[in-house]
Amino acid sequence: MAYRVTLIPGDGIGPEITDATVRVLEATGVAFEWERVEAGLSYMEKTGDTNPLPDSVLESIRRNKLALKAPIGTPIGKGFRSVNVALRQGLDLYACVRPCKVYPGVPSRYAAVNLVIIRENTEDLYAGIEFDKGSEAMKDLDALVAKHSTKALPKDAAVSLKPISEAGSRRIVEFAFKYAKDNNRRKVTAIHKANIMKFSDGLFLRVAREVAELHPEIEFEEMIVDAACMNLVVRPESFDVMVLGNLYGDIVSDLCAGLVGGLGVAPGANVGTHATVFEATHGTAPMIAGKGIANPLAMLLSGLMMLKQIGEDVAAKKLENAIKIVLREGKSLTADLAPTNGVGTNAFADAIIETMKRRSVSGTGQLADIV
Ligand code: NAI
Repeated sequence: MAYRVTLIPGDGIGPEITDATVRVLEATGVAFEWERVEAGLSYMEKTGDTNPLPDSVLESIRRNKLALKAPIGTPIGKGFRSVNVALRQGLDLYACVRPCKVYPGVPSRYAAVNLVIIRENTEDLYAGIEFDKGSEAMKDLDALVAKHSTKALPKDAAVSLKPISEAGSRRIVEFAFKYAKDNNRRKVTAIHKANIMKFSDGLFLRVAREVAELHPEIEFEEMIVDAACMNLVVRPESFDVMVLGNLYGDIVSDLCAGLVGGLGVAPGANVGTHATVFEATHGTAPMIAGKGIANPLAMLLSGLMMLKQIGEDVAAKKLENAIKIVLREGKSLTADLAPTNGVGTNAFADAIIETMKRRSVSGTGQLADIV
């Protein structure tokens, strides 16, 4: 029976890397029935719809419980709010899992990074509760702050709220410990700024400590986000599973992608109780869109995470083995990994498909090895 998966080709490089990823996933021999749906800027341009995230997209994901999504663009500082954030909040995809691993053959400053970011996906400054400069709401907020605080807001301020809940903190930290256990990881590091934000980050940290006590078999560490950034650059091999709030998780994800060779190799999954949306860490890369040179590997590795989740372990391992061979051989890498002799998106996908066909490429090995 074929797996029914919602497929969102997205904007920018999205459609190119989606086609390449779908071809490779189908070549693993696993049968998929793709339900292709559109969202984002390209959807708005094509249809004239003013809503970049039609209900039909959410319904499709709710029905299929699995989605493979390419990036969707968000206007900066104006225009509609992020479709990506709306999708995560709308489907309550509360945990973003982003493995960062150095594959031999990928140019990187480090040889031994193998960490996993668990980012809270629904709260924090991404809640979308904002008050604009000079608005009526800002006047009310000014009055509220004056009543309850010794501080005052600057008269020309705009404000974004940072809600962090006890329940939201507990479920993301519990998710991180469960992930660590299920994947034979040894340590969870909670990242925070509770020295400054004593209530919001303080709550997150207190809950993290409580949850850690319930899992004595997993080492627990806590670290202030700025120190974590320094430590990640100096000794990234000391990190294992990291659990972070939404904003720190977003920023540290790109930092960690940089540790393992760049955004072109950083996959991810947005996990909820009822559905999972697999998507790379990177965005729509508008500068290279339409040129056929984008690296589809991050989306493909996200597809590999999907194979693992649905229990297609042999196909997942076979695909990972083929990816490792192509990366190690270094003859068919895209320009982000091989600036002087890069190949196109499709040629890279073809190289993986051809490698999977080789009899010597097996579907065996440690599954824990997979992203
Ligand atoms: P970006 O991730 O699109 O690009 C950053 C840099 O990485 C650029 O130099 C780009 O060319 C390169 N890059 C990214 N993916 C690549 C790939 N697969 N192969 C080769 N090079 C790649 O980030 P940027 O420019 O800040 O954002 C562009 C748009 O993407 C914005 O509208 C942003 O909101 C959106 N975005 C969407 C995300 C999503 O859909 N989940 C996540 C991040 C950004």
